[in-house]
Amino acid sequence: MFSKIIADIKAVKRNDPAARNVVETLLCHTPLHAIFLHRLAHPLYRIGFPIVPRLISVFARFFTGVEIHPGARIGRGFFIDHGTGTVIGETAEIGDDCVLFHNVTLGGTGKHGGKRHPTLEDNVYIGTGAVILGPVRIGRNSRVGAGSFIFMRDIPRNCTVVGAPGRIVRRDGRKTDLEPPPCSFAIPENTAIIRPIPESIDAAAQAHKGLV
Ligand SMILES: CC(C)(COP(=O)(O)OP(=O)(O)OC[C@H]1O[C@@H](n2cnc3c(N)ncnc32)[C@H](O)[C@@H]1OP(=O)(O)O)[C@@H](O)C(=O)NCCC(=O)NCCS
Repeated sequence: MFSKIIADIKAVKRNDPAARNVVETLLCHTPLHAIFLHRLAHPLYRIGFPIVPRLISVFARFFTGVEIHPGARIGRGFFIDHGTGTVIGETAEIGDDCVLFHNVTLGGTGKHGGKRHPTLEDNVYIGTGAVILGPVRIGRNSRVGAGSFIFMRDIPRNCTVVGAPGRIVRRDGRKTDLEPPPCSFAIPENTAIIRPIPESIDAAAQAHKGLV
């Protein structure tokens, strides 16, 4: 855990031109505080310690605006810039040396149980406001542009994705314009949660249809 914390501090120095020295970074870089608290909460979560890991996560969110579920697996040298509004779900997996900005969502679709959040391979960069939903895989060295939206699509390695829905505009350094392939993660049948539309909402929708 200690070596990961050192790597996280080095990641701030590497990625944030505004970080002047270690003391200022330790005192003022609030997303780093959220990452530190996650480094404490995650092992407790993994051994099944009750409530405390979630409490640490709630405390971190309150003070930093970064919500990291204690179940998320995060590699070395993780850097979040600004942080406010960033949400990382329970089954998210983040490789080494990844960078996230504020308002990034690594979320589920709301339709699945089990593994339901994204996996980022090493050295992935996600711009501010990007929303990535489902157990998708973002390949090593790939970049997701600010404001992009990725829903149940995998992104191969060395790609740049921009837009909503996201399209691959750069691959291995060359310009392109490709639709990302569908998510390859097989969601086991028995973990699917099918939420039927409540009858009252369905009836209201039908009535609304009749009006237009
Ligand atoms: C996507 C990004 C990482 C650049 O990656 P890159 O591989 O260097 O890509 P390029 O700059 O070559 O851009 C490729 C194309 O995508 C477009 N593009 C880049 N970022 C975009 C975005 N966020 N949304 C829409 N289009 C975008 C470029 O205009 C370019 O289009 P063109 O080929 O028609 O000229 C960067 O533009 C980005 O979005 N960074 C996020 C920064 C951020 O969140 N900052 C917050 C600071 S508080």
